[in-house]
Amino acid sequence: MLETNVTERFDFDAYLSHRRKLLEHKLALYMDGGEPEVLWEAMRYSVLSGGKRLRALLTIAAAESIYPGCELAKAAPDLDCIEAVMPLAAAIEMIHAMSLIHDDLPCLDNDDLRRGKPTNHKVFGEAMALLAGDGLLMLASEVLIAKSDKHIKPANLLDVALGLSRATGPSGMVGGQVKDMQFTGSAEGNFDMATVESIHAGKTGALIRFALWAPARLLGASEKQCQSLARLGEIIGLAFQITDDLLDVTGDATTLGKTPGKDEASQKATWIRVFGVDGARKKLALMEAEGESLISENSLDNGSAPVLLSLLKYSINREK
Ligand code: IPE
Ligand code: IPE
Ligand code: MG
Ligand code: MG
Ligand code: MG
Repeated sequence: MLETNVTERFDFDAYLSHRRKLLEHKLALYMDGGEPEVLWEAMRYSVLSGGKRLRALLTIAAAESIYPGCELAKAAPDLDCIEAVMPLAAAIEMIHAMSLIHDDLPCLDNDDLRRGKPTNHKVFGEAMALLAGDGLLMLASEVLIAKSDKHIKPANLLDVALGLSRATGPSGMVGGQVKDMQFTGSAEGNFDMATVESIHAGKTGALIRFALWAPARLLGASEKQCQSLARLGEIIGLAFQITDDLLDVTGDATTLGKTPGKDEASQKATWIRVFGVDGARKKLALMEAEGESLISENSLDNGSAPVLLSLLKYSINREK
């Protein structure tokens, strides 16, 4: 049995590795077996290949932060809130893996390296990579709906399932990827801050916002808590993608596990191309401060375990 208590002096590294382990275990369980064998192998290749698991960690952390006092804690006091959001956290990681498989295809970013390994289409071919992405897209919904705890209110689950479709679809991630594609190859001056913000909010921000809002909604937190977490998700979402843009310039392939320098080479609309490296760093410092105020003003973290604050800082001050 794994230790779930957070020690008095908050150890963020121990927290990360423990929550990641719980998640990896569930992902492997939800994706065990299945046929056609090659399809499942291709899906597992991308989902069970590591990654930071930031979105799932945000979901788990949000659940832990709002659980005392929420509807479900009162209705089922013995329920473990981490266990209760595992199908949701796993679904989010499946959607994220799908977005990476498709993002790396030759028709989009045309990348060969992901998480330090050849991209999905390099191993399984383009057709199978396309279908593995499609499979994961629907498996995510299936896991969320079929595996969620029976104590969760059906109306809350329905709202979260609707939120997942919206965050992933044309008004969220897919729409953002289309805008990213439309501005790929654009000369500087053909896009501005609003363009980049809108691309980032769609392709990256929507799922990260959902990852923080959905556990609160699922467990029956107050509307105010749901909205504060959604706002924190918008801040982390934009900051996370600006950091990704920055690492594309300053990072190396071994640390990143993906090929740097691609944004400049394909003339992507990034924060760096509008404001430069220093401009991106300044924006990130402002966003970190904004997120920190939001967390403390809304008492989102419990003082002895500053989990959301640590994840906010990690999203920005990371090396990969
Ligand atoms: C990469 O996401 C794609 C973006 C939205 C920038 P991550 O940096 O979270 O990728 P993994 O999951 O850690 O590999
Ligand atoms: C990816 O943005 C966004 C999605 C996959 C939805 P990027 O194209 O910048 O991500 P990386 O740099 O390939 O990970
Ligand atoms: Mg891309
Ligand atoms: Mg890419
Ligand atoms: Mg990138």
